[in-house]
Amino acid sequence: LPFDHVTIAVFGASGDLAKKMTYPAIYSLVANGMLDVNKLHVVGTARSSYEGSEFQDKIKKGLKEKKDAKASISDFISRCSYVSLKGYEDTESYSKLDAAIRKLEPEGKKSLRLFYIALPPSAFEDVSGNIKKKCWPEGQTNRLIVEKPYGKDEASAKKLSKHLESLFSEDELYRIDHYLGKDTVKTILPLRFGGNPHLSSTWSREHVSAVTINFKEEFGAEGRGGYFDEFGMIRDVMQNHLMQWIVLLGMEPPKSLSADDIHEAKLKFISDCKPIVPEDVLVAQYEASKSDKEKKAYKDDETVKNDSKAATFATAVMYVNNERWRGVPFVIRAGKALDETRAEVTLHYKTPAKALFPTATPSTFTVRDHPEKSHTLTLSTKQVGEGFSIVSAPLVVDFDHASPSASVKASYVPSAYETLIFEAITGDHTWFIPRAEAEAGWRVWDKAISGTENRTPFAYEYGGQGPKEEKEFLKQRAHDVHFET
Ligand code: BG6
Repeated sequence: LPFDHVTIAVFGASGDLAKKMTYPAIYSLVANGMLDVNKLHVVGTARSSYEGSEFQDKIKKGLKEKKDAKASISDFISRCSYVSLKGYEDTESYSKLDAAIRKLEPEGKKSLRLFYIALPPSAFEDVSGNIKKKCWPEGQTNRLIVEKPYGKDEASAKKLSKHLESLFSEDELYRIDHYLGKDTVKTILPLRFGGNPHLSSTWSREHVSAVTINFKEEFGAEGRGGYFDEFGMIRDVMQNHLMQWIVLLGMEPPKSLSADDIHEAKLKFISDCKPIVPEDVLVAQYEASKSDKEKKAYKDDETVKNDSKAATFATAVMYVNNERWRGVPFVIRAGKALDETRAEVTLHYKTPAKALFPTATPSTFTVRDHPEKSHTLTLSTKQVGEGFSIVSAPLVVDFDHASPSASVKASYVPSAYETLIFEAITGDHTWFIPRAEAEAGWRVWDKAISGTENRTPFAYEYGGQGPKEEKEFLKQRAHDVHFET
């Protein structure tokens, strides 16, 4: 690393994201020798107060000891401290935080301060403004990781950009989308451009009838009502995480793998995406399970308004106005409180016009993140044995269950957050989102959101497969796409 010392300041350190994601990710970097525990401090901060070792004990609960770790959990915890803020707008609190960090930084050495803000969007302007005012020493490197949601629409995203621009240079900002830290998302590039002619030459409207993305979660929005009710499913995962996956799947080859060239190719694709119209969006909300009393309706959550129309499930059909994809529906589907947890993108191939075997099931190619990390290409082949029956058989690469010695799996598999925090420390912007992209992404989704927000959502049962109306909706728009299992 180009630094003698790194301080990571975690805002929102009392919250769930910090305990479940941020701290475990930083510990794993240490345990795997990516960061030297003796050159690192993690300063948590939030409005809660903790006595004695209460904060460290809380963080510890989220960590798992690793065999052959380069540093133990107690080594790591000894480098973690906590500063409580009176309020996010209270400038004095930031002076206190700055003094606490200063004490940890070795004098005359090259230090990095990395600020990670995992807080509700309403606190963001105050926090970033005060960080800049009080905790951003000149003459050393300081960086800020900006979590989603990046605004609520194009106008608020632009406003947020203006605010950030007045305080920080673009180089100092790392707009994070944890899907860009996932192998299953980044792998789209080598799959398409890494010497697989059977994929690269068929990756277009000539051969593809539809692209689908299917994101399902077995759990609902329990306990997150305050945030979720304001943002809903489209803003929570579709406009950002799922869109990032689609952008890599759809974009033209970048000129090189440099951050600038990748960002340019991504932005070009986003500007070719037609804004999704409300008529091509179906929204739904889950009701209580009929068989399991624990699985309550979305609206039964105390933090949710009784008359909430927030979508916990949505299916949207997007079209892309370019040579490669004109006319191909991109069906983007995401739902909470369903029968399983799944996240995958699939290319659905056309049946060749003059097929000798017209009944053969057209081939599909799927990249999956949940329930396992895998790639699956289905092939039409002759059933082995008597007769001439044609069957569809999968060719599978299962990364999760691959043997540890298999070349498809490195011995160290960092989580998405781990990867991205490390890249922010090394100063690599490739898998972060530049300003123009963060704003342009909303242009595709704004109408879809504003045009469906006041619509009464269809109902579906917690633990089921989604609203029954989806079948007809898809039939009219992407007739050979269906999701029922
Ligand atoms: C988060 C959303 O950003 O992503 C959650 O706020 C969602 O609602 C999560 O559950 C999904 O991430 P992953 O990596 O589990 O697919």
